[in-house]
Amino acid sequence: MLKAVIFDLDGVITDTAEWHYAAWKELANRIGIDFNREFNEELKGISRMESLEKILVFGGKAGLYSESEKLELAKTKNDQYVQLLTKMKPDDIFPGIKELLEELKAKGVLIGLASASKNAPAILQSLEITNYFQTVVNPDEVERGKPAPDIFLKAAEKLAVSPAECIGIEDATAGIMAIKDAGMFAVGVGTIEKMKQAGADLVVEDTRELVLSVLLREFNQ
Ligand code: BG6
Ligand code: MG
Repeated sequence: MLKAVIFDLDGVITDTAEWHYAAWKELANRIGIDFNREFNEELKGISRMESLEKILVFGGKAGLYSESEKLELAKTKNDQYVQLLTKMKPDDIFPGIKELLEELKAKGVLIGLASASKNAPAILQSLEITNYFQTVVNPDEVERGKPAPDIFLKAAEKLAVSPAECIGIEDATAGIMAIKDAGMFAVGVGTIEKMKQAGADLVVEDTRELVLSVLLREFNQ
């Protein structure tokens, strides 16, 4: 029986994936790294510092910066990103998500957030949806980031449900892998080919398709 739905945030609830891209691109270009959308896909679901490491490797600049310089670079990116976030308002929630949260609440299905972002609580506040969530896992609470299952398992543990009773919703390859490794039903938001390849059980190309009756039908099959 479905007891909980555990959401990713960036790219599932709102379009912040685009803003992460813009902020990383600006930082990468500033240090002479050519950044593109294809490579950016690899950063989805990945923590801030891990993303920076990947960018430095991608640009052939791994090992050129000290730890404190890397922290400074990550801070520069985050400052730029947080600046973009100040524009965020409840209208920026993806279509269909608020309706799904309402349906889940009405049916007594628990709601959790498993985002790698340290900005997640502030974003939920700006979107005015904090109250729907019974748990928001802080990425610092778990040892390994996505694609490891830790953050989804922690969400289930905090909600006191078993992984088999959960649906996880993700837009990133790393996120789908994390959900599957956690033993949950994985819903991918994105292109069918990419999400299926990552292991998604159900794929929607648009968040409007995230309707509880559809999720339940697929989950119960
Ligand atoms: C994930 C995003 O949700 O959060 C990644 O998909 C991002 O792109 C990560 O790097 C960490 O976010 P933040 O806000 O803590 O830098
Ligand atoms: Mg995401």
